[in-house]
Amino acid sequence: MWHVSVLILSLSSLVYGAPQVPCYFIFGDSLYDNGNNHALITKAKTNYPPYGIDFPTGPVGRFTNGRNTADILAELLGFETYIPPFASASGQAILKGVNYASGAAGILDETGQHLGARISFNKQLINHQITLSRIKIITAINQSAAVNLRECLYTVGIGNNDYIGNYFSPFYPTRRIYTPEQYATVLVQQYSLQLKTLHDSKARKVAVFGIGALGCTPAMITMYGTNGSLCVDFINSAVQLFNAKLVSLVDDFNNNLSNAKFIYINSYQIALTPTPTTGLSITNIPCCNATNKISFQCIPNQIPCSNRNDHVFWDAVHPTEAADVVTTRRAYNALLLQDTRPYDIQTLATS
Ligand SMILES: *[C@@H]1O[C@H](CO)[C@@H](O)[C@H](O)[C@H]1NC(C)=O
Ligand SMILES: *[C@@H]1O[C@H](CO)[C@@H](O)[C@H](O)[C@H]1NC(C)=O
Ligand SMILES: *[C@@H]1O[C@H](CO)[C@@H](O)[C@H](O)[C@H]1NC(C)=O
Ligand SMILES: *[C@@H]1O[C@H](CO)[C@@H](O)[C@H](O)[C@H]1NC(C)=O
Repeated sequence: MWHVSVLILSLSSLVYGAPQVPCYFIFGDSLYDNGNNHALITKAKTNYPPYGIDFPTGPVGRFTNGRNTADILAELLGFETYIPPFASASGQAILKGVNYASGAAGILDETGQHLGARISFNKQLINHQITLSRIKIITAINQSAAVNLRECLYTVGIGNNDYIGNYFSPFYPTRRIYTPEQYATVLVQQYSLQLKTLHDSKARKVAVFGIGALGCTPAMITMYGTNGSLCVDFINSAVQLFNAKLVSLVDDFNNNLSNAKFIYINSYQIALTPTPTTGLSITNIPCCNATNKISFQCIPNQIPCSNRNDHVFWDAVHPTEAADVVTTRRAYNALLLQDTRPYDIQTLATS
């Protein structure tokens, strides 16, 4: 029932309001990808059932059963349609924004390479330059199609794979080279340059999603064990070192870059503090029959659980649509003071 009321709310905003921002650009990993990996040669691909079982057009490249965070955010912002993937976006549609996110992608270019092709954050930033030159052409021809890039919303959710698809993966040497503290520093230094590049391209309203509680994913629990704890504590500790440095970076940007409005979304805390009346009582068992090796994705063509609104996890690493709705609503409209810093996405969008 709760699910249905969310849908009605978002539909009514679709009917009555103009979007809160003129355009929305999405950078990130599989939590946001809506089709960019479709044509790539990679194991990080979800173009098969049971993915998309609750999405009107079926398995079209989202790494969950229904809508993902980028979709839900587009609805909350009042867009009439989801933001199209870069892989297939064309024509005037790009004036409302483009989704560059790619499953298995990371801050570091090599992250996720054991799965095959992916579009790293650096490559996503290059794709954004391609979009900007296309926009220039469209607006040069059509005088009434102006876009103010400074008024757009930009969300960036990247770094999860630099841990589960690099540092804590057996296929990479990073864990032998760096302490968790050193690795977090390496990542945030690179991330700082990348976010600066985005600002140089006129992005002013930027929401940066921190890394989630990766030590609580079924994949990491199966792989490493919990030693009597609820989650894999050393993975969560490593991730929190990164998040703490990211918070400082966001503060720095707000102090140093001209007209920058960067906000930090505390995905880690949002996942670990309860949201009232949401169900989601099954926190550690995936809904689909997932593989605990390599991709952590659903085994193709198996029937998933029917109580999808009770499960936090869809496969061994990705949340269900129901969990995405809860976390995205708190990113948009903070429930607890610490959910977002210094304010939430709704405040950023309407400021
Ligand atoms: C010009 O841009 C406006 C606003 O985006 C749009 O409604 C119109 O269809 C465009 N005209 C052409 C010829 O593409
Ligand atoms: C397991 O927990 C015990 C007690 O807290 C600790 O001494 C030990 O180092 C832990 N082992 C691992 C592998 O984390
Ligand atoms: C911002 O300025 C502070 C103090 O002037 C400096 O320590 C910091 O490195 C700067 N950060 C960035 C991202 O430029
Ligand atoms: C999951 O897959 C395993 C191995 O193929 C199979 O034995 C098991 O019955 C499956 N479980 C469900 C619920 O489909």
